[in-house]
Amino acid sequence: MLFSPHRPVGLKLLRFALPASFCFFYFFLSRTWILNNAYTSVKTSFTSRAAPAAAIPEIPEMLWYKLGPNGLNSELQGYVDTCLGRNPTFQYEFMTDLSGDAFVKEHFASRPDILENFLALRIPIVKADILRYLILYENGGIWNDLDISCEDVPIGEWIPAQYKENTGLVVGLEFDVDIWVRQFASWTIMAKPKSPHMLMVVEDCIEAVLEKTREHNVGVADLTIDMIGDVVDFSGPRRLTKAVLKSLSLSLNSKIEGGNISNVTEPRLIGDVLVLPDYSFANSMNEQYGDSGKGQILVTHHYAGSWKNALGGEILRNGSNSE
Ligand SMILES: *[C@@H]1O[C@H](CO)[C@@H](O)[C@H](O)[C@H]1NC(C)=O
Ligand SMILES: *[C@@H]1O[C@H](CO)[C@@H](O)[C@H](O)[C@H]1NC(C)=O
Ligand SMILES: *[C@@H]1O[C@H](CO)[C@@H](O)[C@H](O)[C@H]1NC(C)=O
Repeated sequence: MLFSPHRPVGLKLLRFALPASFCFFYFFLSRTWILNNAYTSVKTSFTSRAAPAAAIPEIPEMLWYKLGPNGLNSELQGYVDTCLGRNPTFQYEFMTDLSGDAFVKEHFASRPDILENFLALRIPIVKADILRYLILYENGGIWNDLDISCEDVPIGEWIPAQYKENTGLVVGLEFDVDIWVRQFASWTIMAKPKSPHMLMVVEDCIEAVLEKTREHNVGVADLTIDMIGDVVDFSGPRRLTKAVLKSLSLSLNSKIEGGNISNVTEPRLIGDVLVLPDYSFANSMNEQYGDSGKGQILVTHHYAGSWKNALGGEILRNGSNSE
C-alpha cells in the first residue's frame, strides 16, 4: 500500500483522478496546463501543513520532485512509487514550472538578486537545477529526479547512526574524469533547511548566470543553453560539488578539496556534510573510476530524462521540443 493517511489528500486524489481527467481533457487542453494548474493548487493547500517529525534530526521527511512538460509516465511513476512506498511516513510534492516559480516568489522575496534572476531565466534545465537547491535550502528534505528508484533501505536509515546528529547535508559521489576528480550526484540530495552549503550553491549559480550575461552582453532572459557551456559545470553536479567544497572550506576554516572526497569507501562526514560512497547513489556507473568500495546501494538512477534539447528543455515523447 503506497499511500499513508499522512499524505495530503489532494495529492492522493490527484494521482488517481489525473489519469482520468487527463484522458478526458487531452483533446481540449495541453497536458502541461493541466499538470501545472492541478499541482499549483496542491501546493497552496500543502504549505499550511506543519513539517512532519523526522527520523533524522533536522532533516524533514519530505520528498521533492519536479515534473517536466511530459509529466509522469508509467516508467517514471514506477520509480517514484519505489521511493514513496518504502518511505510511507514521508510527505511528497511534485513541483512544476509554475509552482516552482510560485515557491521562489513566496520564499525569496528578501533576496531580489536570487528571485529576479531565477524568474527571468529561460533555460529549463538550469532552472530545474537551481530550483532543487532553493527548495532544499528553504525547506530541506530529499530531492529526487523522477528517474530515481529507491532500493530497500528506508531513507531514515541512509545516515549511519553515529552521524545522524551532526549531518546537515547528504551528497553521494558519482563518476568523473578520473579517480582523483570526483563529483557529487545532483539527482538525489538530502539537506536540512537553511544549510549554508545549499545557499552557497544557489549563490554561485546566480553569479554564474550574471557572468554569462556580461560575457554575452545579454539580459538573463536572453541567455540560451549554447551560451552557458556545459550545464554540468554551470549549474549541475560540478557546480554543486565546487560550491559545497568552497562552503565547507569556509565553515571549517581549512581547505577541503578533491582529495578529501576521493577514495571514499564508506560514508565520510566532513564538517556537517556526509559524503556517501559512489555505490550509494551511483552504483551502476563507477566500474571504471569508482572507489570500488562495496556497500549498501540506496538509489538507482535510470537515465530516463532526455533533458538536453536545443532549448535545454525536455524532449516530448512524440519527438517535439518543448521549452
Ligand atoms: C582534507 O585533506 C587534507 C589533505 O589530505 C587533509 O590534511 C585534511 O585533514 C582533510 N580535511 C578533512 C576535514 O578531512
Ligand atoms: C583508500 O582507502 C583504503 C581504506 O580506507 C586504503 O586502504 C587505501 O590505501 C586507500 N587508497 C588510496 C589510493 O589512497
Ligand atoms: C507533440 O506534442 C506536442 C505537445 O503535446 C504538440 O504540440 C505537437 O504538435 C506534437 N507534435 C506532433 C508531431 O504530433
